[in-house]
Formats: sequence, C-alpha cells, structure tokens
Amino acid sequence: MLLPDSFIEEVKFRNDITDVVSSYVTLKRRGRNFVGICPFHSEKTASFNVYPENGSFYCFGCGVGGDVITFIEKIENLDYIESLKFLSARASIQMPENDKKSEELSNLKRRIYEANRESARYFHRSLYSKAGKEALSYLYNRGLNDNTIKRFGLGYSPKSKYELINHLITLGFNQSEIINANLAYASYNKISSRFFDRIMFPIIDLRGNVIAFGGRIMSDQKPKYLNTSDTLVFKKSSNLFALNFAKNDESDTLILVEGYMDVIALNQAGFKNVIATLGTALTSEQAKLISRYSKEVVICYDSDIAGQKAASRAISLLRETGLLIKVLAVPNGKDPDEFIRSYGDEGKIRFKKLIENSANDVEYRLQKASKGFDLSSSDGKIGYLKEATKILATIDSKIEQEVYASKISDIIGVAKTSIMEQIIKEYRRQRNNNEKKYIKKINQDISSRNDSINKEKMNNLRAAIAEEAIIAYIINNQDLANNIFSKLPCENLCTSFNKKIYKMLMLRNQEGKSISLTALTQDLSSDEISSIAKMLAKESQRNSTKADADEYIKVIIEEKEKLNVSLLEEEKIRDYMKKLKESKN
Ligand code: CTP
Ligand code: MN
Repeated sequence: MLLPDSFIEEVKFRNDITDVVSSYVTLKRRGRNFVGICPFHSEKTASFNVYPENGSFYCFGCGVGGDVITFIEKIENLDYIESLKFLSARASIQMPENDKKSEELSNLKRRIYEANRESARYFHRSLYSKAGKEALSYLYNRGLNDNTIKRFGLGYSPKSKYELINHLITLGFNQSEIINANLAYASYNKISSRFFDRIMFPIIDLRGNVIAFGGRIMSDQKPKYLNTSDTLVFKKSSNLFALNFAKNDESDTLILVEGYMDVIALNQAGFKNVIATLGTALTSEQAKLISRYSKEVVICYDSDIAGQKAASRAISLLRETGLLIKVLAVPNGKDPDEFIRSYGDEGKIRFKKLIENSANDVEYRLQKASKGFDLSSSDGKIGYLKEATKILATIDSKIEQEVYASKISDIIGVAKTSIMEQIIKEYRRQRNNNEKKYIKKINQDISSRNDSINKEKMNNLRAAIAEEAIIAYIINNQDLANNIFSKLPCENLCTSFNKKIYKMLMLRNQEGKSISLTALTQDLSSDEISSIAKMLAKESQRNSTKADADEYIKVIIEEKEKLNVSLLEEEKIRDYMKKLKESKN
C-alpha cells in the first residue's frame, strides 16, 4: 500500500473515533471509555466498546474491532480506500494518489455500476420495442401503468443470449467486466447472458446506482425469479428493494413485503414507503438498515405457513433493533399486490384500513398463541396463560406489560395482579438466562478456545496471553516502547501471529514511525485487525502498570525457555534414536 502513513494518521487524527461512531451508535460513557449497542450484530446488552485513548473499538459480543477506518469500512460497507476517502471528505482533507491495486478495484467497481446502468437502459428500451411486446402487455395485465414502469425502470431481457453482451461490448465494456457484473457467464468459450426472456427489475442502492437485477419469467417455468448473485457492488443480505424510494417518504413507517411486485403495486396505489428483501429471509443487517430509516415497520408477509414463519423470524430481528412492529395479515391468502388489484379503485382505501387495523407484534403473537388452546376449559386457560406470560416477558416496558395483562385477565378471568406477578417472574428468569448466556460467551471469548487468527494460542496459552498484553501495552505507551523492545527481543515470542505483530511494531518504532493500531491496519486482514482490537480492549480492562509490563516480559521469556527446553529434549531423543539405529546396523 503506497498511501503515506502521515496521511492516514492525519485522517485518523481529524476523525475522532468517538465522534464518528456516535453518528451511528448511541454511546454512553463508562469510565475512560464508551459503550453502546453493537451495530454489527443483534444484541440487547451493550457490549460494543470505544476506547478513545488509542482510537480503537471492540465488541465483546461478536468480536469485531479495529480503528476508525475499519469502523467505517464495516458500517458503510466500503473497502479500505473508500473508507479513507469517506473520512478524508468528512474532515476535508485532500486524498493523495491511490495505490495501484485498490485503484484497479475501484475502477472495476465503477465499470460494474456503469455496465449495470447501461443494461437497465437497454432492458427498459427493449420493453418498449417490438421484442418486448409480450412483456409489456404482461405488465399491463398485472395492472401496472407506464408511469410506474418508468419509475421503477422495469425492462425486458430479450430472448437472445448474446444481444445484451454485444450491445455492452459496442459500448466499450470488456468480457471480464460483464462477467464481474454477473450479467453474463462464460460457457463453451463464449459468454452468455444470465438473463433472457424475463421481466427485469433493477435493484438500486441508496446512492442511486443500479447494483443488481431480479428477473421474472413470464410463464410457469422455474425459477420464477432469477437474481444477480453477489458481486463487488452487490450484497443480497445487506440491501433492500426500493429503499432508495422509500427512504424519501416522510412517514416514520416502512412497510415490509415479500415481493418486488408487491412493492410496485403498492407504490402505484400511493404507498411509497414499501420495501422488500431480495429473495432471501430478512437478515439482521437489513433489520438495522430499516431501523436507520424508520421508527415503525409493518410486516406484511403471505398468510401461508412459510410466510408466517418468515414473519416470526423477522419480528425477532426487528425487535432487537428497537423498532415498533406491526403485523398486517392480508385476508384470503392473497399477497398485497393481488389484494390491491382485486378491489380496483377501492384497493387503496382497503389496504389503508388493513394497515390501520394491523395488530402490533405482541397482539399478533398473543393471538397466535391463543389459537392453540381451548379457552373455555381450565387446562386451555392455564396453557394460554403460560404462553402469554412468556411472550409478555420479552417486552421491556412495564406499562405495556400491564396493558396486556389486563386484556388477558379479561379473557381468562384471572386477576390482573397475579398475571403481572407471573410476567415479572418470567421476565427475571429470561433476563437471568440472557445474562448467563452473555457471560458465558464473554468467558469463551476470553479463553478463545478456537482463536482462528492465532492458531498456536491454545498450545501456548500462558505465553500468548502475556504476548497480547505486551503488544497492547506498547501500542498504548509508545514512549515506553524502546525500553520494552530492548528487554524483549522478538525471537522470544512463542506464537507466530503475535511475533509478526510485535516485529511490525518494532520495525516501525526503529524507523521512528508511530505505532498505533491504524499504522498496522494497512497490512492486516480485517480479522487480524479485530484480534488486535481485542487485545486493546482487554488491556483497557486491565490498565497495566510498568510493573505489569515487566511481569509480561518475564512470563514470555520463561515460556520461551520452556519451549526451547522441550524442543531440545525432542532433539536429544531424536539424536538418541538415531544413534541407536546406527549402532544396530
Ligand atoms: N423470489 C426469488 N426467487 C424465486 C422466487 C421468489 O428471488 N425463485 C423472491 C423475489 O424477490 C420475489 C419474492 O421472493 O419477489 C416473493 O416471491 P413470490 O411471492 O413467489 O413472488 P411475487 O413477488 O408475488 O411475484 P408474482 O406476483 O409475480 O408471482
Ligand atoms: Mn405476487
């Protein structure tokens, strides 16, 4: 990487990690550090830590960590160079010339965006050409008008497997770019279009780039939809269909539906705040994205078993992000698109009613639970009460719990206070379990049984822990580094990953360069960075003194000697065996 250190240090210096993280995560001060709910995994207890002292962050829940540049890479879904660009723009710093390799990569990304955009244009034109006649009438038959077709940029991919490719090549794209965009694949020395004879739905990101396509077949053949696979510019699990439109809607609510056609039909009916996943179950990444753009989400999935299962899953993911959740059941097993259309002009008003009448997720779950019991029998009542208590114990607000407790009291004729008692008991039990699970996880994390970065750790635990401590200590106290380096030459480290990091620090120190986490991030993988961030996080809990540092050094040297002795012993035995063999011959 050819970017000068001074530039990277400046970017880091001008982008205070606490400031930057605060625009994504609500942070609370805890001593010298800050904690918050991790934006990279779903959690209820805050285990995401920011350490302003050395500019690092680390989550004890999911093990992600790094510096401010890594943070932006992960949260904005950018690569290293893009993240530096992002942060230099944020701090109004001029970016120096890029390194060649990453420049190539960002060029390729740009070409993929362009190829996608040109393809979208081409598909749209084809829809209105002679070849697209059937496709266009298909869309008209499904009730879409030209305005809607235009707004969503719908198109048609012609029957020929080569037309689009030839067109793109005429425009100057090469085969590798077209394949990298997943618009085509190589077969029999030729490349063929991925999409042909399908209705095309462009998928557009929040910045307006065409990042992928969904293609629907017009017959009953399978697969009904074909989607772009993940590419350099597209990750299915972290994008949502039509969020580019929905995010501009003023309401604080987003309606989550299952299909592209549902989104489009609802849009045409005037509901602009509708989104869908891209042919997969909702992910926690998508749940977080939704929570960034709304306060409330209405889940509107099919009423078949698969749809209801998907809804339950979505509810728990969305709940963890703190969103208000409602669940809308479309009657008669229809999907929203079919529902709207079946009522013609009245569709819009009818759907609005459905939204207004949609139960919040607690009501929905209570209702679902009640269906499993015969509420006229005592057994049924007891069974229902047990289920309902479990559900209500997942709510954090006591007032909310009370509201439902009185509803249940009305249904089964048990005093509200006794129901509340049950709920509180169950609530404590669940929290306790969560807490236990959490503590167990952290303990596992600390002992790092399967440390995939430092594979030798388990066999050299005592040494590895001291090595990690000393590495973190050096990063936090560069002024004391010379002293440590002279007392502890790098040959003494037992595990090769730690030795590598230690060597890097030593070298930089010799060259008079800074030895922050940032200085290392350029040359390490993101998992390696996380594992160093973890060392720093643990150091922050320990807060080592100079005497501690001496102790770490002592332990490392001791362990190394032990290792040498055992190696020596092995060698002696081998020698002895050899001699024995020789004497026999
Ligand atoms: N889907 C997919 N691949 C399939 C089937 C479905 O990616 N083979 C995704 C698409 O995003 C689709 C969504 O799942 O929009 C919902 O599927 P489905 O309900 O079957 O389709 P609809 O969107 O209702 O499409 P249509 O109304 O045209 O049948
Ligand atoms: Mn449908």
